[in-house]
Amino acid sequence: MADERKLCLSGTGITKVFGIGRNKTTAVNHVDFNFYEGEIISIVGESGSGKTTLAKMLLGLINPTEGEIYFQGVKRDISSHRKKKEYWKNIQAIFQDPFSSYNIFRKIDSVLLDCIHMRGGRGLPYDQKVELMTEACRFVNLKFDELTNKYPFELSGGQQQRLMIARIFLLKPQILLADEPTSMIDACSRATILDMLMQLRDEIGMTPIFITHDIGLAYYVSDTVYIMEKGEFVEKGSADEVILHPKEPYTRRLISDVPKIYEEWDLSTV
Ligand SMILES: Nc1ncnc2c1ncn2[C@@H]1O[C@H](COP(=O)(O)OP(=O)(O)O)[C@@H](O)[C@H]1O
Ligand SMILES: [Mg+2]
Repeated sequence: MADERKLCLSGTGITKVFGIGRNKTTAVNHVDFNFYEGEIISIVGESGSGKTTLAKMLLGLINPTEGEIYFQGVKRDISSHRKKKEYWKNIQAIFQDPFSSYNIFRKIDSVLLDCIHMRGGRGLPYDQKVELMTEACRFVNLKFDELTNKYPFELSGGQQQRLMIARIFLLKPQILLADEPTSMIDACSRATILDMLMQLRDEIGMTPIFITHDIGLAYYVSDTVYIMEKGEFVEKGSADEVILHPKEPYTRRLISDVPKIYEEWDLSTV
């Protein structure tokens, strides 16, 4: 039977080499992948396995040394600033350290206004923009009224991460790369963040890609898991296949690092 799923992001031979000569590091080494619309994907690997480098290439923040990336089956072209901005309407990211994602000189309302403008809302009357920002803040349990005139660094870590999600709510990208989005916050906020991302997925039809060292998280949230070791995908398949019946010793090791794989992500206990 033909595969009827729609491709959202794919890549062939994606490679990133940093440095030259003796200082050469191959951070990502000829990876191939097909991510489909609506599928929840996790890319799992230990620290240094190349996850963030891959995420940056997918986002177009750094160029692959080799290989091609396709968006919805078409070779990606981000050769000009204008094309890059178009591409970023489709794909967005949240990173481990939300603080590093913000320009520290910009206040929270201008961070959110930028998102509205990116979606073509520059010409809207100001009160409509405020309404949109209020709605986005409400979605992540923040109060817009209390945030105007504040800077992101005046928020707690959990609040900063929620502000990141409010941005995503406004930007409505088709793909969201979430690179260790919960590893710097406490368990309770972690569950809330995951819950919000899942809700966004349902509401705006976004395809989330979780990038994590935490195979327990991957098991809890994803349909499809890619295991990354030293820049290569060594195993992939459904979460059940890969995590309940791992083939690679590396995958088994990742699993044994998580003693309570079934319990840790049981949100009912949080
Ligand atoms: N800008 C860079 N310059 C040189 N080496 C880098 C750079 N970014 C990452 N690396 C190296 O690439 C490898 C993969 O790093 P990274 O993608 O951050 O892994 P992960 O996100 O899985 O922890 C590491 O060996 C890291 O030191
Ligand atoms: Mg990383």
